[in-house]
Amino acid sequence: MSTRRKFIKQSLLTSTLLLPGTIRQGTVFFRNKRQAVTGRKPLILSTWNHGLAANEKAWETLNQTGSILDAVEEGVKITEADPASRSVGLYGFPDREGIVTLDASIMKGDGDCGSVCFVRQIKHPITLARKVMENTPHVMLAGEGARQFAIAQGMPLEEEVLHPESEEAYLEWLEEAEYRPIINIENHDTIGMVGVDADGNLAGSCTTSGLAYKMHGRVGDSPIIGAGLYVDSDVGAATATGMGETIIKVCGSFLVVELMRQGRSPQDACEEVVGRLIEKNKDGIEDMQAGFIAVNKDGEYGGYAVHPGFNFAVHDESGNRMQDSKSRFMD
Ligand code: GLY
Repeated sequence: MSTRRKFIKQSLLTSTLLLPGTIRQGTVFFRNKRQAVTGRKPLILSTWNHGLAANEKAWETLNQTGSILDAVEEGVKITEADPASRSVGLYGFPDREGIVTLDASIMKGDGDCGSVCFVRQIKHPITLARKVMENTPHVMLAGEGARQFAIAQGMPLEEEVLHPESEEAYLEWLEEAEYRPIINIENHDTIGMVGVDADGNLAGSCTTSGLAYKMHGRVGDSPIIGAGLYVDSDVGAATATGMGETIIKVCGSFLVVELMRQGRSPQDACEEVVGRLIEKNKDGIEDMQAGFIAVNKDGEYGGYAVHPGFNFAVHDESGNRMQDSKSRFMD
C-alpha cells in the first residue's frame, strides 16, 4: 500500500482557499482581512465512525445540561462502553501481556484539565479523568494510583476478561508475538471529541485503549495534555488520533491551537501540524496514521491526516454527519 502512496505538495492556494470542512455562514469570508469569521455554534466534532453515536449523545447532553464539558464526557462514554470497539474502552485489544490498559484526558477552555493513563478495570476512564481534574490538585494519575483513586471515588472495578474477539486476536498474535506497533489506518482508533457551545465555551475529551499489543506500560498521546488534546477558550480546541508516538513528538494538539492563535484557520492549522509530524517521523511514516480535528471559538472547524481513510463526525444545528478527511498522502 505504501508504495502506491504519493506525496502531495499542496499549494498554499489549496490550503488557504479551499478550506475543506470549514462552514461559512456569512456571505463573505475575507480571511486575510479577518472579517466575517463566522462558523456554526454549537458544534461537536469527533474522530472516526464511532464519533457519530458519540456526537449524538454529546448533542443531547448539551441540550439537556447546557454544559459543553458534560457533553464531551457523556459523548465519548458511548464509545468506551461499546462492546464493538477494539480501540477504546475495556473491550479493546490488550497489550502484549494480554492486559487492557486505558488512557483518557479531558480539558476545559479555562485550562482546567485531568487525565489518567495505564489504568485497568475502569469502564469509563474519561469520567475518572474528570474526577482527577475536579477532585484532586493534580492533572494526571497513572496505573495503580489511578485505579486506587477510582475506588476511593466510588467507581466500580470491572472484571479483567478480554472480549472474545480481542482474546482470539491476541492468541493469534501470540503465535508470532512480533512486536510491531499496529495502528489502524483505515478504520478507527482513539475517540477524540472537541466542542463549542453557542456562547463560545469550549471543551474536549480523548479516550483510548491504545495500540494493540503495545508494551506493557506504554502510554500514548491521548492522556497527555497538549499531545492528544488541547483546549483554550481564547482560541479553540484540537484533538488527535493515530500513532501516539508521532503525535507526542510534535505536541500535536497544542501546536494546532497555537497556530489558530496566530490566525490560522482550524483546517490550515491541522494541515501544518500533519506536515510537521511527517517531518519529525520520517522513518516508517508509510505505515503510520495520525490525524487531527480542530474547532475554533467561532465554530469553524477542520481535520487532516497523514494518510487517507481518516474521517470524523460533525454535529451542528443542521444535523450529525460523517466527513472524510483530506490527507497529505494519497493511495
Ligand atoms: N492515539 C492513541 C495511541 O497512540 O495510544
